[in-house]
Amino acid sequence: MSAKVTPLAAEEPKVWAFTAENRAKLDAAIKKYPPGRQASAVLYCLDLAQRQHGWVPQAAIEHIAGILEMAPIRVTEVASFYTMIHRKPVGKYLLQVCGTTPCWLCGSNEIFAAIKEETGAGVGETSADGLFTVMEVECLGACVNAPMVQINDDYFEDLTNENMKVILRKLKAGESPKPGPQSGRHTTEPAGGALTLKSIPS
Ligand code: FES
Repeated sequence: MSAKVTPLAAEEPKVWAFTAENRAKLDAAIKKYPPGRQASAVLYCLDLAQRQHGWVPQAAIEHIAGILEMAPIRVTEVASFYTMIHRKPVGKYLLQVCGTTPCWLCGSNEIFAAIKEETGAGVGETSADGLFTVMEVECLGACVNAPMVQINDDYFEDLTNENMKVILRKLKAGESPKPGPQSGRHTTEPAGGALTLKSIPS
């Protein structure tokens, strides 16, 4: 017998299922694992459910548990361990702001301030228009382009108070701001331009 888990969100759907398209993707993912090891696809399932629904309701947890032949509490354990899985609704744009030392030293407080000024949302909050949810996260591995923010699946780097606001305004306007370094440098090249290997050695 499986234990029922208390839903976390106020507006939980009573029933939930993958779309036919997503179910086909899921079945293909399960086939990558040896017979009887379908539970290994649990994180893939949770991510897929989140991409379909925007967050992962309890009904989706139970649907996934049924497909993978797992106890719902086991799926819940995975969902609650990974901060990338959201058990409550989040805004259309999830702003994951890195506040770890390199980003902090390079001005992450200015980024938090820009977000608050432009969206009205602080850390852990969703803007009144439902567009933006703000999270503070630890190092996202882009320290060389600090400070940075992950917005949904994209990294925005070399941020300042000003260019962060420009990005948010574009998102509000329904535009797609270009991800990556906002300073004009190419990927992780030196911020002031190349200093070495400027010519081909003879
Ligand atoms: S400290 Fe921010 S990306 Fe590493």
